[in-house]
Amino acid sequence: MPRTPLIAGNWKMNGLRESLAVVEAVGAGAPEGPDALLCPPTTLLAATAAVKGARLAVGGQDCHAAASGAHTGDVSAEMLADAGASAVILGHSERRADHGETDAQVRDKVEAAWRAGLLAIVCVGETLAEREAGRASEVVQTQLAGSVPDGADAARLVVAYEPVWAIGTGRRAEAADVAEIHAVARASLAERFGPDMAAATRILYGGSVKPDTAADLFALEDVDGALVGGASLKAEDFLAILRAA
Ligand code: PGA
Repeated sequence: MPRTPLIAGNWKMNGLRESLAVVEAVGAGAPEGPDALLCPPTTLLAATAAVKGARLAVGGQDCHAAASGAHTGDVSAEMLADAGASAVILGHSERRADHGETDAQVRDKVEAAWRAGLLAIVCVGETLAEREAGRASEVVQTQLAGSVPDGADAARLVVAYEPVWAIGTGRRAEAADVAEIHAVARASLAERFGPDMAAATRILYGGSVKPDTAADLFALEDVDGALVGGASLKAEDFLAILRAA
């Protein structure tokens, strides 16, 4: 089953209003073919949605599980949708590390994203210690089992495999390792949700994806795009990755 590649940019805690020039440049230059998504900080979400153009979608970087209420500083999935988002990144390793997010909490956030009509991009990935202990596959399987709710389908779920040690380090995982974990992730989805769902669900790679490494990555059978941090902050780099997809 053909899967439309998705290139998602994660600006993390970067970007001021001046960064809207990057959004405009990406929106104007995005090629036809792959789905292009930018996830700016929440402060820029509505302004990004206003200037992005038709070829670019916009997403959040996290959401609360509840729709509204007494949760100072948090943002709900409904609020992201209201600001113009069509997707949200959930369970990023920086949130798991900085905020102690558990698989169960991520699962509740995915339910919230679906409730608000958002595509959920669920991040999984092992630490260096886990990889060196030979536990990478097992960690990814466990995170997927715990973070993805029942009833998942390819229209509402994207999985992002992001080895923690490759994020922001310039150290990309070897192609064989990426291929292996993506196959493991797809097999886990097939076992739980059936072969059709697994064949249709996009699995992105993330971790130091750059213009010069993107094409090799996208040539791998089970890699359906990328979650891009640092390189999504520069329009020309993000566009080069989009063109490689
Ligand atoms: P990076 O970040 O591309 O800067 O390594 C990827 C991510 O954390 O999503």
